[in-house]
Amino acid sequence: MGKALDGVKILDFTHVQSGPTCTQLLAWFGADVIKVEKAGEGDVTRQQLRDIDGVDSLYFTMLNHNKRSITLDTKSAQGKEVLVALIRHCDVLVENFAPGALDRMGFSWERINEINPRMIVASVKGFGPGPYEDCKVYENVAQCAGGAASTTGFDDGPPLVTGAQIGDSGTGLHLALGIVTALFQREKTGEGQRVLAAMQDAVLNLCRVKLRDQQRLDRRGVMEEYPQFPDKEFGEAVPRAGNASGGGQPGWILKCKGWQHDPNAYIYFITQAPVWDKICKVIGEESWITDPSYATPKARLPHLKTIFSRIEEWTKTKDKFEAMDILNGYDIPCGPILSMKELAEEPSLRATGTVVEVDHPKRGKYLTVGNPIKLSKSPTDVERSPLLGEHTEEVLSQLGYSGDQIAALRESKVI
Ligand code: COA
Repeated sequence: MGKALDGVKILDFTHVQSGPTCTQLLAWFGADVIKVEKAGEGDVTRQQLRDIDGVDSLYFTMLNHNKRSITLDTKSAQGKEVLVALIRHCDVLVENFAPGALDRMGFSWERINEINPRMIVASVKGFGPGPYEDCKVYENVAQCAGGAASTTGFDDGPPLVTGAQIGDSGTGLHLALGIVTALFQREKTGEGQRVLAAMQDAVLNLCRVKLRDQQRLDRRGVMEEYPQFPDKEFGEAVPRAGNASGGGQPGWILKCKGWQHDPNAYIYFITQAPVWDKICKVIGEESWITDPSYATPKARLPHLKTIFSRIEEWTKTKDKFEAMDILNGYDIPCGPILSMKELAEEPSLRATGTVVEVDHPKRGKYLTVGNPIKLSKSPTDVERSPLLGEHTEEVLSQLGYSGDQIAALRESKVI
C-alpha cells in the first residue's frame, strides 16, 4: 500500500508557519507538494532566526519537510504562464498571503476556477469576513484576538500568549482537514471549492471551553473550579485561571523536589474524583476520605487551595518522575512538566518517530518533530526540506518545458 495521499498534487504558495504546517502534513501523508518561492529570496523564514550563517534556518527546515521547491516570479508575464500550467497540473492550491495578494497577482478564485474547475483553493487568513478581514496577522495577534490571551495567565497579571503555536500551526491543522474534506467531496462532485481557515476562528475553536465558561459565568456569576473561588469576585468576562484544569476534574501545577534550582521540577496533578481515596492515602490524609468537607467533589471545591497545598507538601519530597511512578501506580492522573531538552532526549518519542533526526546537506543533522498523526498503513518518512529552487528544472520538465525554455526562463530571472 502506498501513502494515503499518493497522487495528490499540491501547489504550495505558503510561507512562514501557518500554511507550511498544513502543506507539510499533506506531504507527510504522501502528497506531492510543490512549494513556489520568490526567485532569489524564497520563503522569508529561510533567513529568519538563523543559527548557522548562510544555511536555511531551523524555522524553515522544520516546517518544510518532504516538499519540492521551485522558484518563480509570479508577477512577471512568463511567470504567470508557468503558474497557469501549475494550476492545471495540481489538485490543490494552498496560500497564506496577506489578504488580496493572490487577486493582485491576477489569480482570483474565479480565474483559478476557470483554469482548473477541479482545483481546491485553500487559504489561511488572519480573520474571516468582517471588520478585520484586510489585516495582516501573525501568531500572537491570533492568540490575542481568538480568546487565548485573555484566558491565559494568572488573575493578578496581564494576558499571556502561550508557547504552543495555536494561531499558526493550529490554523494549519484546521486547513489541512478542510483540504482533505474538500478532496473527499470532489471525488463525488468533480468540483473544486474554496477552503478558508481564519486564524482567529481556529484559536477560538481551540478555546471552545472558555466560551463554555463565559456562558456558565453569565448564568451563575461564579465558577467554582476557578482559583478566584471562593475568595474573589468574578467580573463580567471569563478570568485567567492560572493552572486550573479546563475540565471538570480540578488540577494544578505543583512543585517537586529540586524546584528551587530546576525551573521545570513540577508536576501537573489532577484530583480526579474516582481516585480521591487513593490520593488521600498517598499523601497521608486518610481522614479526608470521610470528612464531609472533603469527601465529595462539590464539598472539595471551596478547599482546592488547601488540598493542592497539602498535596504539594508530598510532591516536594519526590522528583517529578518518582512522583509520576508512584501516582501512576494508583491510576492518579498526573504529568511531569517536561522541558524541551527532556523532550528532545526522550527515547520513546524517538522510537515512535515523533522526534526525528534529519540530515541536511548544508546544516548536517538536526532534530525535528515528525508527523504527530500516525496512520497504520501509511507511515511517515521525514525527508529534509528542499534547498531554494532545488526542484525548479525537475518540475518544469514535468510540466512539459524543454531544456531551452527553462534556460530562457532562468536567463530572464523568472525562475
Ligand atoms: N513571486 C512574486 N511575488 C510574490 C511571490 C512570488 N513567487 N510570492 C509572493 N509574492 C508577493 C505577493 O504577491 C505579495 O505582493 P503584493 O503585496 O504586491 O500583493 C508580496 O509578495 C508579499 O506577500 P505578503 O503575504 O503580503 O507577505 P508579508 O511578508 O508582507 O506578510 C504575513 C506576511 C504573514 C503577515 C501575511 O502574509 C499574512 O497576513 N498572511 C495571512 C495570515 C497568516 O498566514 N499569518 C501567519 C503567518 S505564520
